Amino acid sequence: MLIPFPIKSTIEARRSTRSYQIQPVEHDVIDAVKSFSEAMPIPFDHNVEIRFFHADPTKTLYPLMKSPPDNIAFMAETDSISISKAGFVGELLILYAQSKSLYTCWYGHYKLIELERLMPHLQSPDQLKEANKGFGYSKGETAGVQVICITPLGYYEERGLRLMDRITEKTISHKRKEIIELLENPDSFSYLSDDILYALDLGRKAPSAGNAQMWRFGFKDFFNTITVAMPPGYQHFKWEHPNVDIGICACHVWLGLLDRGWQPTVKVSEEAGRAVWEISIE
Ligand SMILES: Cc1cc2nc3c(=O)[nH]c(=O)nc-3n(C[C@H](O)[C@H](O)[C@H](O)COP(=O)(O)O)c2cc1C
Repeated sequence: MLIPFPIKSTIEARRSTRSYQIQPVEHDVIDAVKSFSEAMPIPFDHNVEIRFFHADPTKTLYPLMKSPPDNIAFMAETDSISISKAGFVGELLILYAQSKSLYTCWYGHYKLIELERLMPHLQSPDQLKEANKGFGYSKGETAGVQVICITPLGYYEERGLRLMDRITEKTISHKRKEIIELLENPDSFSYLSDDILYALDLGRKAPSAGNAQMWRFGFKDFFNTITVAMPPGYQHFKWEHPNVDIGICACHVWLGLLDRGWQPTVKVSEEAGRAVWEISIE
């Protein structure tokens, strides 16, 4: 499986960016991102749709942030597995964009009515009522294909950053839990090989809504399989779709193993509303 960017340094360079120049992405760069989106080396079957769309330079689509011209929507059905796959697939594209020196930010809380105006996609206007106070696609599982998350795509504008964002970007957003805090069973730590630790280290650096880092790592098959899932019964007080974040983290773990020369197999199944990823090496 060929990943056309340096895995570790790209993951470590990515930051959620909430201030953009109002300038389109250069033609050859956006063409490269579009081409990659059409031929991504995803290691499982999926129906995630990726749509590029333009936005007006207003603060309507993203709360408190002016939209840059270029943006991407990640669309899927809304069961736990499909949205988790949207996280995995979307993150690979976000990392590719990062490797092309573009800035991004996962947004689950975008203004649905504005997105529908810019990029008509709803099956019925009634679906606008399913959004959470007007944000996002639905409070829970719903009918048909929806926009799971969107991201701006563009160039950083430092002067546009509000004081609050500067503080968030410097402090909260970069903090990550240690691997040992993320293990379902902390006693497993001493059995982990360097390659598994490398993959988990990239996994823990994944972005998550509110930086909640709700993923937990377990092991099967004598430590040849890593599982990535949220704890049973997990609920976030502001983010309704944490299975998306679990898919993002699984993408990082998979990339970490690829980076160490493995060709892992990747499976995802549902257990009581949770997407459970299994990433295996032999
Ligand atoms: C699925 C998902 C949804 C997110 N939704 C939003 C959002 O609606 N608004 C926002 O400002 N940031 C959002 N974020 C960005 C997170 O706040 C950010 O990833 C986290 O604080 C970690 O910071 P980092 O991405 O710079 O490492 C989202 C992230 C993920 C993964």
